[in-house]
Amino acid sequence: MLPTTFEEIFITKTGELTMKLTINKLIKEAIEFCKQESNITHDELIGVTDGKAVGTYIEHKFEEYLKNKYDVTIGSSAKGIDLPDRHINTDIKVTSIKKPQSSSSFKSIEQKIYGLGYNLLIFIYEKTDINNNCYLDFKHCMFLESERSGDYNLTKILRKMIELGAKEADIIEILKDNDIPGDEEALKILAQRIMKNPPKQGYLTISNAFQWRLRYINAINLEDEIQGVYTYEEYNGKEDDEYQTPLFFTDEICNYLKNELEINPNIIIEPTCGIGNFIKSASKTFPKSQIYGIDIDKEKLNKIDSTIPNIKLINENILTFKFNHFDKKNSFLIIGNPPYFTKNKLSKINAKNKTDLKVLTNNENIDISEYILPNIIDEFKNTKTTLAFLCKTKISRNVFIKLVRNKIEYSFIKQININSPKIYKIKEDTCLFIIQFGGKTLTDKTCKVSEISNPSKRLYEFGFVEDKFYSNIDDIPPIDGKCELEWRHGVKHDCAKIMEFTLENNQLINKNYEPVNIEKTLIYPLLKSGQLKKPIVDETSKYVLITQKKIKQDTNYIKTEAPKTWKYLKDNKEYFDKRKSSSYTNTPEFSIFGIGDYSFKKYKVAIAGFCKNPIFSLVTGDKTFMLDDSCYFLSFDDYDTAYITMLILNSELVKKFLNHTAILDSKRPFSKKLLKRIDISKCLELLSYNDLKNTEENLELKAYINEDKYNSYKKQFE
Ligand SMILES: C[S@@+](CC[C@H](N)C(=O)[O-])C[C@H]1O[C@@H](n2cnc3c(N)ncnc32)[C@H](O)[C@@H]1O
Repeated sequence: MLPTTFEEIFITKTGELTMKLTINKLIKEAIEFCKQESNITHDELIGVTDGKAVGTYIEHKFEEYLKNKYDVTIGSSAKGIDLPDRHINTDIKVTSIKKPQSSSSFKSIEQKIYGLGYNLLIFIYEKTDINNNCYLDFKHCMFLESERSGDYNLTKILRKMIELGAKEADIIEILKDNDIPGDEEALKILAQRIMKNPPKQGYLTISNAFQWRLRYINAINLEDEIQGVYTYEEYNGKEDDEYQTPLFFTDEICNYLKNELEINPNIIIEPTCGIGNFIKSASKTFPKSQIYGIDIDKEKLNKIDSTIPNIKLINENILTFKFNHFDKKNSFLIIGNPPYFTKNKLSKINAKNKTDLKVLTNNENIDISEYILPNIIDEFKNTKTTLAFLCKTKISRNVFIKLVRNKIEYSFIKQININSPKIYKIKEDTCLFIIQFGGKTLTDKTCKVSEISNPSKRLYEFGFVEDKFYSNIDDIPPIDGKCELEWRHGVKHDCAKIMEFTLENNQLINKNYEPVNIEKTLIYPLLKSGQLKKPIVDETSKYVLITQKKIKQDTNYIKTEAPKTWKYLKDNKEYFDKRKSSSYTNTPEFSIFGIGDYSFKKYKVAIAGFCKNPIFSLVTGDKTFMLDDSCYFLSFDDYDTAYITMLILNSELVKKFLNHTAILDSKRPFSKKLLKRIDISKCLELLSYNDLKNTEENLELKAYINEDKYNSYKKQFE
C-alpha cells in the first residue's frame, strides 16, 4: 500500500521507511483483517470454548497484522489500552455474537456522560468448528469514537431534555435519578457543563459498579444519524454480486461432491470465482485437477493465493467469455456462486455491461444467473460434466424447467437447500443445484430436494407429471383440471393518488391527502390483498373511483352523470397523463382495466395473489366491493353459491393441491393460471357435505351450510 502524503512516512532508527497508522487506516485495516480472517481456518482454536482465549488470539493476531504494516505502539494490560499512541488512543475489544458484551473498568462518573476518553475497536465474531477445522466468521467490526462511548440511556435522556429546553434543576434531578454520585454542588457543576456542552449519543451501558457493556445492537442499527460509529457493513457496502461463500462451506460442498457423487474431474472451472474460496477447497479436495477461476474483478483475483498448485486465473467478463477453448474430451466440474443482479439493478462492476446484458437476455429483466447457467449447460451438455451452483431456488427451478422444455438430457439432478441467513446473511431461499451430464439419461422429469444438513434424505420432489408442473409431486390431490367458473383479476388504474380514497368523518380524502367533494355515484368500496385475511370480508376503509363499466367505454358520460367527478378528473389529468403503461394509449380519457360486468356482481370469492399463505374470502357489501389488481376473484349473483365455493376453496383438499402446485418463492405464488386449474366438479366428487361442514367450523364461521344447500350447489356442476 502506498502512502498518500509525505507526513505519513516515518524513518525508523534503523533507517527503514514505515507508515504512520491513522484512525482512517485503522478502520480500513480492521475491515480487511475481518475479511481475511473470515476466509481462513483457525485450527489453534478447535474445541476452545473460552471467549477470553478466543479474544486474546484475535487481538494478538490483529496487533501483529498492524505491526507488519505500520509504525504503531502496542500497549500491554499493565500500560492500559491496546493502541495507546496519542493520535490512535484506541482499545481493542473482541466479543462473540452469542454473548455480545464486554466489560472493563472506568475511572470517573463523567465517562458515563462524555465517554471513556479513548476509542474502542470492537470485533464481533461467530466461531464454528466443523470436521476438525475452526472458522471465525466476523459478523461486525465497529469503531466507536471516544465521544460515543458514554452511557446509552443517560445520554439519550439528557440530549432529549436539552432539546426540549430543560432547566438546570431538571438535569440535576435526572442525574440523581440515575444514581450519579456527588453532592449538590458537584451535581450542579456537572449539570451546568451538560447544558453548555451536551453529550453525544453514547453506545455503552455503564453500570455504577464501573463496568460497561456495548449497546452494540443500537450502534449497528445506527438509530440516529451519527458520525463516529463505523461498522463493517457500512464500509463493506455489499453489492448483490459480492456475496463470497465462506471457506467452511466451500469445503463442505467439495467434500460432498467427491464423497457422495464420487466425481473425479480433470478440469474444474469456477466461472465467477471472486476471492476464490471454491478454488481453495477444490484444490484440497481434487489435488490432481487443473483449476480455472474467472472473474471480472481483478482486485478479487489478486487476493487469491497464487501458490495454490494447478490454478489459472482469468480476468474476464463471464457474459462474453468463450468456453469453447476447453477440450471437451475432459471431465469437468463447474462450480460456484454466480452473481445476483438483473439488467435493471446492475452492480457497479457490471455497469458498463448494460448493452451486453440487454442483448444477451433479450432485454428481459431476468436474474443474470438465469442467463449464465443455461449458457454453461449449452456448452457442456454433451460432455462428462458436473455442474454445482449455489443459486436462488427460483433460479434452479427455472433452469430445470428450461432443461426439460428444451429436451436436454441429464444423468443426475438435485436441489439441496441451504441455510442462506447463516451463510450469506440473506433471507432469500437458496440452494446448491447439481446437474450431471454424460451418464445414463434420467427419464423422470423431476428434481429431488433435500437439505444441506442431510443431503441424502429426500424431502420432496418437484417437476413435471403428465406435462404439468408441480412444486411437489408427492400425493397430488386429483382435482387438477379446468375451473368451470371464470377467475378474474381486480381493477387496474395506475393512478392511486387520484383514484383511491379513505373516508374520514364522511369526507373522502385522496392519496395526496386532499379532501375531495365529488358525487358518490362512481365511488366503490375497495379491498386490497392485505385485507383478504378472513373467510368473510364485508368492511373496508378504502374506496376507489370507477370510471368505466367495461373496457374502453367512452368516459364522456361522466360529464353529465357526475359533473363534480368529471371536474375532479380533469383537474388532475396530469396524473393520468403520467401513466407509463402503453395499454393506456389510444383509450378514452381516465380509462381503467380489469373491469366488466363481473366487477359489479354483488358477491365475490377472492384471493391475494402475492401472499404465501392465503385464504379465500367471500367479499360482499351494500355497494359492490372492488378488488385491486393484486387480487383474483370469482363473481356470483347469489350468496349461497359464493359461500359454498368459498368453503370448497378453503378445504384441506384444495389447500393441499395449492401447496403442491404453487411456487411459493415466486412473485405471485397464486397466479390466475394456477387458480384456473382447480376443477370444482372434481372437488365435489371428493368433498362430502361433512367435509364442507368441517371447513366451516375450522374457519370459525357461524353454521350456515346445510345438506339442501350443498345438494343444490352440487346440481349446478352436474
Ligand atoms: C456472488 S460472488 C461469488 C464469488 C465466489 N464464487 C464465491 O462463491 O464466493 C459473484 C462474483 O461474480 C463476479 N462477477 C460479477 N459480474 C461478473 C461478470 N460479468 N463476469 C465475471 N465475474 C463477475 C463478482 O466480482 C463476484 O466476485
